[in-house]
Amino acid sequence: AEKNLILAFETSCDETSVAVVENGTKILSNIVATQIDSHQRFGGVVPEVASRHHIEWITRCTDQALAEANVSYDDLAGVAVTYGPGLVGSLLIGVTAAKSTAWAHHLPLIPVNHMTGHLYAARYVGEFKYPQMALLVSGGHTELVYMKSEHEFEIVGETRDDAAGEAYDKIGRVLGVNYPAGKTIDEWAAKGKDTFHFPRAMEKEDNLDFSFSGLKSAFINTVHNAEQRGEKLNKYDLAASFQQSVVDVLAEKTMRALDQYPVKQLILAGGVAANHGLRSRLEHDMQKYHPDVTMLQAPLKLCGDNAAMIGAAGYMDYEHGDRAKLDLNAEPGLMY
Ligand code: KG4
Ligand code: ZN
Repeated sequence: AEKNLILAFETSCDETSVAVVENGTKILSNIVATQIDSHQRFGGVVPEVASRHHIEWITRCTDQALAEANVSYDDLAGVAVTYGPGLVGSLLIGVTAAKSTAWAHHLPLIPVNHMTGHLYAARYVGEFKYPQMALLVSGGHTELVYMKSEHEFEIVGETRDDAAGEAYDKIGRVLGVNYPAGKTIDEWAAKGKDTFHFPRAMEKEDNLDFSFSGLKSAFINTVHNAEQRGEKLNKYDLAASFQQSVVDVLAEKTMRALDQYPVKQLILAGGVAANHGLRSRLEHDMQKYHPDVTMLQAPLKLCGDNAAMIGAAGYMDYEHGDRAKLDLNAEPGLMY
């Protein structure tokens, strides 16, 4: 079979990443340079700092991705790049790198949506079957996406306020956990119990939307009130209670979505898809309520932002004939 190698760029937020992917299913290299250290002292991503990092790292990451994959520009079939959604200054670095590469080496330029990219991280564990439902949970998004086919996306449910990952990061700050807090809270949750019973917003409502700001406030109030009483609460139980609330709502709404939209497959992807509580809860619920629907969970290592997922989505777009011209611009608010 023909080998189509895609060079992929991802710079939408605070990871500079370049990958070489074969036929959208095999990772030859996936370099991820994280800037977390530079943002931690600010408690979040500082856009200006992020852009500067991307500029500094993008060439090194590209050289390394090609070297590790042992390919040259002549071997490539195309260049894929995230052009939105994300931070405009960050996106522009990847878009400019991809355009320069495409122009200099006469390669097709393939524009990729960051959220489609997250979805395609799951493509590395199995073939996609349609119709399909996806639970996409990241630092900026929490949504249920119904896909009739490869290019027909419909958001059937979404958060009305904070994204799930954002809620993790905000309550993490109250517990003194560095940004991004999700991974640590997840680890703490495994050591505690749901003793606080925080609210589960909209859980029983007949829609597919989410809300996490009430949970966040309830959590913060509980911690602050205890502090005022001079009481120190068990951080493991706090984490477990918070996580149970998030997981309950995400799982409940996902099952509801599958009741309403008959699909062949459920995809779990995005940074928060790395959550152990969420992964095992969905495995349990799918077996119990939707045993005929197969689930593909993005591999742990590909849940966070990375260029391999952009290469997988880019290959699908490439096969579909999607091409951008050299006037491609970053689109920070891009929808599907
Ligand atoms: O997809 P991602 O890397 O970046 C965005 O596109 O937003 O997601 C990052 C988010 C952060 O909010 C981080 O705290 C969260 O994913 N996260 C987790 C876990 N690992 C990362 N949240 C819960 N549990 C985890 N294990
Ligand atoms: Zn992301």
